[in-house]
Amino acid sequence: MSNSQHDPPDQKRRAWGSAPAKLILFGEHAVVYDQPAIAVPMPSLKARAVAVTGRRGGGVILHAETIGRHYLMDAVGESEPLAFTCRNVLRWLGIERQPDVDLHLMSDIPIASGLGSGAATAAAIARALARWLGYEFSPAQLSALVYRTEQLHHGTPSGIDNTVVAFEQPIWFRRHAPLETLPIGARLCLVVADSGESSPTRITVGEVRRQWQREPAQYEALFAAVGDVVQRARAALAAGDGATLGALMNENQQLLEAMGVSAPTNERLAEVARRAGALGAKLSGGGRGGNNVALVARGDAERVAEALRQAGARQLFVTEVG
Ligand code: MEV
Repeated sequence: MSNSQHDPPDQKRRAWGSAPAKLILFGEHAVVYDQPAIAVPMPSLKARAVAVTGRRGGGVILHAETIGRHYLMDAVGESEPLAFTCRNVLRWLGIERQPDVDLHLMSDIPIASGLGSGAATAAAIARALARWLGYEFSPAQLSALVYRTEQLHHGTPSGIDNTVVAFEQPIWFRRHAPLETLPIGARLCLVVADSGESSPTRITVGEVRRQWQREPAQYEALFAAVGDVVQRARAALAAGDGATLGALMNENQQLLEAMGVSAPTNERLAEVARRAGALGAKLSGGGRGGNNVALVARGDAERVAEALRQAGARQLFVTEVG
């Protein structure tokens, strides 16, 4: 394994890493309770990191360029996610002596909005640091490493976010079951609308947990109903049946509302998308704001996006899957 201590001072080594945003199509929240879920990467939105040989004796320095924050890995506490991720990379690789490396992180992924920004930034920085040290993580290794960072973000993650950003493929995910990548029968066109209301996943995940503890039978019935929607969505995806998929998205949205994780903005934007011709729409991710996803026929994407823009969506992303 190479080490920056051996590099001539004038030869700066560089290594890059990146990871995409993610979109949960079906099954968020219920997936924490062992139901299946379907998620896809969104390669048009990315977190990117570059590791560059630093000043001798400088240690690991983090540069969160998007928010203009620069700090020593050792100067922040255990709960700072990027420093925590870097320490885990070093531990994983058995590196005891801190290398001298500057890690620059850039991201286009909206923060705390259901698109997996936390998992993607951790994956990008872990990949860049490991590559700079001469090591290539497999997707499974990277996913396991980022899972630890996810636990910092929200205590009881299902593991879906770290898995989809590390594998960068559509996935069928179920906790404690082997990962399956998902065949998709026809290209899906999705319009993603940022409600502009940021909402940390930890909050809605914690609320669902408290509600489930208060009313276990009711919540378990909701989780099972979501699981059933996800099973039907898998068949519709394989068959390329957009109309059924859209109807299942609407059904999933109703179950998320019953769970208490939707917000009036999510419901309004979903309704606007349907009225503008979307086949179906729902919130995506932790909910209570964040992002909505609408499934549209290709030719309708512009019209649906425009209707959502006029209804107040902050940012819009059109993405294709399959
Ligand atoms: C967050 O992207 C998805 C949730 O289901 C939480 C999790 O699976 O860890 C809300």
